[in-house]
Amino acid sequence: MNAVEIEEAISQLADQPFDPESFPFAFLEAFGNKETTIKRLRAGASNKSDLGGVLQTNNIHIATCGSGQVTKTLIALKDSPATTKAKAKFILATDGEDFEAEELASGETVACAYKDFPDHFGFFLPLAGITTVRQIAENSFDIRATSRLNRLYVELLKDNPEWGTAERRHDMNHFMARLIFCFFAEDTVIFHGKGLFTETVAQMSAKDSSNTHEVISALFRAMNTKIEDREREGLPRWANTFPYVNGGLFSGNMEAPRFTRIARSYLLHIGNLDWTKINPDIFGSMIQAVAEDEERGELGMHYTSVPNILKVLNPLFLENLRAQLAEAEDNPRSLLNLRKRMSKIRVFDPACGSGNFLVIAYKEMRAIEAEINKRRSEPDRRSEIPKENFRGIELRDFPAEIARLALVIAEYQCDVLYRGEKLALAEFLPLRKENWISCGNALRIDWLSVCPSTGTGVQFRADDLFSTPLDQAQIDFENEGGETYICGNPPYKGRNRKGSDEKIETQSVFARYPGSFASLDYVANWIIKSAEYCKDTNAAAGLVATNSICQGEQVALLWPLVFRAGIKISFAHTSFKWSNLASDKAGVTVIIIGLSREERQERFLYSDAEARRVNIIGPYLVPNSTTVVIKREVPLSQIGQMYLGNMPKDGGNLIMSQAEARVLVEGRGVDHSLIRKFFGSEELIHSEPRACLWIEEKRLDEALKNPAIAEILGRVRDFRNKSTAPSTRAHSSTPYRFVQLSASNGNRAIVVPRVSSENRPYLPVDYFASGPVIGDKCFALYDAPLWNLALIASRLHIVWIGTVCSRLRTDFSYGNKLGWNTFPAPTLTDKNKADLTRCAEGILLAREHHFPATIADLYDHEDMPDDLRQAHERNDEVLERIYIGRRFKNDTERIEKLFDLYTKMTASAGAVTKGNAEAHARL
Ligand SMILES: C[S@@+](CC[C@H](N)C(=O)[O-])C[C@H]1O[C@@H](n2cnc3c(N)ncnc32)[C@H](O)[C@@H]1O
Repeated sequence: MNAVEIEEAISQLADQPFDPESFPFAFLEAFGNKETTIKRLRAGASNKSDLGGVLQTNNIHIATCGSGQVTKTLIALKDSPATTKAKAKFILATDGEDFEAEELASGETVACAYKDFPDHFGFFLPLAGITTVRQIAENSFDIRATSRLNRLYVELLKDNPEWGTAERRHDMNHFMARLIFCFFAEDTVIFHGKGLFTETVAQMSAKDSSNTHEVISALFRAMNTKIEDREREGLPRWANTFPYVNGGLFSGNMEAPRFTRIARSYLLHIGNLDWTKINPDIFGSMIQAVAEDEERGELGMHYTSVPNILKVLNPLFLENLRAQLAEAEDNPRSLLNLRKRMSKIRVFDPACGSGNFLVIAYKEMRAIEAEINKRRSEPDRRSEIPKENFRGIELRDFPAEIARLALVIAEYQCDVLYRGEKLALAEFLPLRKENWISCGNALRIDWLSVCPSTGTGVQFRADDLFSTPLDQAQIDFENEGGETYICGNPPYKGRNRKGSDEKIETQSVFARYPGSFASLDYVANWIIKSAEYCKDTNAAAGLVATNSICQGEQVALLWPLVFRAGIKISFAHTSFKWSNLASDKAGVTVIIIGLSREERQERFLYSDAEARRVNIIGPYLVPNSTTVVIKREVPLSQIGQMYLGNMPKDGGNLIMSQAEARVLVEGRGVDHSLIRKFFGSEELIHSEPRACLWIEEKRLDEALKNPAIAEILGRVRDFRNKSTAPSTRAHSSTPYRFVQLSASNGNRAIVVPRVSSENRPYLPVDYFASGPVIGDKCFALYDAPLWNLALIASRLHIVWIGTVCSRLRTDFSYGNKLGWNTFPAPTLTDKNKADLTRCAEGILLAREHHFPATIADLYDHEDMPDDLRQAHERNDEVLERIYIGRRFKNDTERIEKLFDLYTKMTASAGAVTKGNAEAHARL
């Protein structure tokens, strides 16, 4: 269940008559517990309560009680040994009149009338596995409004299916935006009389709902017509109490969809919510999925938290404004200068969704302006920050509507907050007609036409002749000579998830650069367009992006183009989770990239833990090196050659379990020397080798005499023949062997899996002396000296791999060409090699002590056995002394040293090999 569905469920529960018996179960059900879980709790099997209530382990202890006993019951719940033993996170007591609850870890409490407990549903969201963003917990209104509007939207489309077609969708979205405005306006003083809109609809429309659409349409027309013209336009007298709003919001098609009785009652119900509580930075993100058929189920899940947005906006420009404010102290001239500066700042989000970055930027700047006005003793002064300077491009129609509306609401709320209701109202209506949020494809639009570098007229110009330019109003920016900041979180779409249109867009965005850019993530388009914009206009950008554009092969494709345009990374935030409200989805891992042309001595590199001052930020978000690491066919350092393991493509026939292999040998007469141990990554990590048939060509005739082998090879042949891939079919005539064999298949092997969990402190490398077959989920060094294992098992190596290779989500994805062949190691003396060999043996022996524990068991971050940890520490100590004569202080120092060494080593003439010459040419 998502947050919106939960809100709906608990609102329904609060509306029903209170039943002390069933309440705890209904409450848990409303938070997404499955029927079977509830059944088991009811049956008592999993109910651990010692107070006759319901106690769900690791979750909540609920007790209902007699009238007036709520506080006492809550204390009993808190003191209950069962609460502690079952590690309950929450306690809750109610008698159906009062409601009290506590979150035990924080001590936060809720005490309210029973009927109002749904107002606090955000408090309980952790019960549904949703880690709440604090703001959501405190602003349940936005979720509630979303849930109601969603129901109305769906109900209206049911009865007016034509409003859901591509041609009418815009009308539908526009209609919803108008409704939201009316709900807000009637609860503030914008409309004269509280609840004016809802009450007028309730009074003037028939109970059977037959003319609801006509009443609403008349009101909309009135709001689009100046008072003096209304009679002439034939508008009904009862609409005269409504002000002239216009502002584009009430222009265009004035029709309203037909209402069923249910839809009418939904509408009246929504009107009764208290819309003054709307929070435009939350509401937009919540509501936008309403208009998307595929996304409706994910309503409210893509909420972006304000702290995350500030991670972009603060370093981009807000901190600088605040610093200027602090410096100005009470000096009226300095304060005036800052106010003037702010009046000319424009903020541009080229994938703005419902405008949350723009709204936050606007609100933060208004707060600074209010402080200036206070210090200058001009508290009532009209704001000089035009909301029209907060520009956006958004692909989808509804969020674009909402973005505009959100800024209108934010402006009004800021005016009320800083100047008072009277002044806010005096200048609010009519709304300005211009449209400053463009609905269109940011990758097909010339950004300079939407957001020109000077304050001249804005022309919405599409790059693509086939796209229909929308009917966009034009507007001047009030920013002559001002600054422009690009910001936002453009779509996170990995390179493999791009659709055909998106591939074409990438092609056209990168058309001016030589080479192929198909393997870039979709967000790279926004990076390069921002870089080009900054180059042409002296603007600065701060964008959230998938972390993959700063890892692996994408780095060499994208960043040289950015740097060559004279653009630098002005600040950055290393990987963090961009969480959302979905309980079942991990948020994407993202980074934040600041771009600008500006030459600065000092830049900030942020991580969750710290803000580091550095001189340069490189494309891997590593300090003080802009070096790009390029794949190599052979190692840069004097280390062993690493190969990809053998690729079977056998339809599961050549590879089998050990037990199956035994049957072949003991029951079907297969010669045991034709069977070898097989290790893929799972087999390696869990120390559970499988077996495989391994038939050298010289023994093929002999092997085929065995009917079991002949049968197996027949199946492999069939499988390969039926494959749609020509490369697999090509191997159907050699069913006895894997389709791709490692260049070498020696006896001893040092093996490392291609993908391994980020939760291990070291890469799970292993060593086999008995000549197993290594599968293609691993890389292997055959017959290489053991000191190579010491390198792979080191902290230095995992840090290098984690930085330069791409990741699968956050897990490590090893690459022999990009990770091992590029690994910069100093020249090792014989003594170094002997020392490292001993270290590698130490690691293997320490593992041996814990036999039969596997790598999976032994390398748990929290739970690694001491002797194994010490063996690794010794290994790191020896290796790091070879690098710098002492231990590195931390991973940052490690990666800086590695980049320094890599840069020096590749600078030597022989570093460019045939395989990577092309990539180097790009640089
Ligand atoms: C990750 S969302 C961010 C929106 C908003 N800042 C938020 O946090 O909710 C990305 C937005 O980009 C929009 N988008 C996707 N492709 C686009 C394109 N080619 N041009 C303009 N907008 C696009 C999507 O519709 C979506 O609203």
